[in-house]
Amino acid sequence: MSSFTGNHILSVSQFDREAIELVFSVAQSMEPYAKRQKRTTVLDGAILGNLFFEPSTRTRVSFGTAFNLLGGEVRETTGMANSALAKGESLYDTARVLSGYSDIIAMRHPAAGSVAEFAEGSRVPVLNGGDGANEHPTQALLDLFTIKRELQFNNKTIDGLHIAMIGDLRYGRTVHSLSKLLCLFKNVRFTLISPKELAMPDYILAAIENAGHSLKVTDQLEGNMDADICYQTRIQEERFPSQDEANKYRGKFRLNQSIYTRHFQSKTVIMHPLPRDSRTEANELDNDLNLNPNLAIFRQTDNGVLVRMALFALTLGVENLVSQYEKPVIWYSNKS
Ligand code: NCD
Repeated sequence: MSSFTGNHILSVSQFDREAIELVFSVAQSMEPYAKRQKRTTVLDGAILGNLFFEPSTRTRVSFGTAFNLLGGEVRETTGMANSALAKGESLYDTARVLSGYSDIIAMRHPAAGSVAEFAEGSRVPVLNGGDGANEHPTQALLDLFTIKRELQFNNKTIDGLHIAMIGDLRYGRTVHSLSKLLCLFKNVRFTLISPKELAMPDYILAAIENAGHSLKVTDQLEGNMDADICYQTRIQEERFPSQDEANKYRGKFRLNQSIYTRHFQSKTVIMHPLPRDSRTEANELDNDLNLNPNLAIFRQTDNGVLVRMALFALTLGVENLVSQYEKPVIWYSNKS
């Protein structure tokens, strides 16, 4: 990726290590604004079209928050039934229309490839907020940013990392995008734990092997795993052919404090893209881990704002102007 300005962000395949480092350094520089120590109006007058055709809380709201924190305005369309897609309009036409109303668009849709199809009709940059089971590039970037930060506390780097990914690796787009990004690094060890039917797709396994990484695929949590990161996932019930089918796998791989103590190191960082399914029959990440200092799930969600601010600033070409448009924060804030 030679330049971000004016470009879509559809897949992690667009990134090299240099581009990732740039995103991370801009994300870091956004911290005072996200923490309300100061504010900026660099995107004053700009409009984000936030189009979410699938359920979302944190991705949708953090895209909107990130844009607001840069001084821009947000227009939302949520739910397929509330848009003209329900009347048979093509993604291309919707994109032609909505790109006339916005300077940039963030979009989530249940079909793999849909956001790229939409982008073909768009006259403004489009950021993929998740297209079916395919990709979730902004989540992968915030996950990687979190991994880098968490490992720094343990004097480790992404090169040489050992990551265990657990759960629904077949339909989980976050683990697909994160694995692809990790292929840009060196000597990564992957331990992939899932029911056989929910294993990581072959094309991702091939990418991991082509990158020269070490790979262990298993359907059991066994022994002490020596992992730096334990990345837990939710059974993606909405992508299964039926609820009965999804029910077979709910609760198969739970993580609670005692399972964590048995299988992981005392410093293993616990991640999850969220939402965690807290219903009794699933409960893949138990509340008894909430006070475990290695639980990074809410640091991930906070980092999501920084990374999305960085992507907006870079895509709209204002990453070096943010501080020029600074203003003081005059209200009470306890975020710092
Ligand atoms: C994930 C998603 O939508 O792919 N959530 C998110 O964006 N943070 C994972 C999930 O829904 O399980």
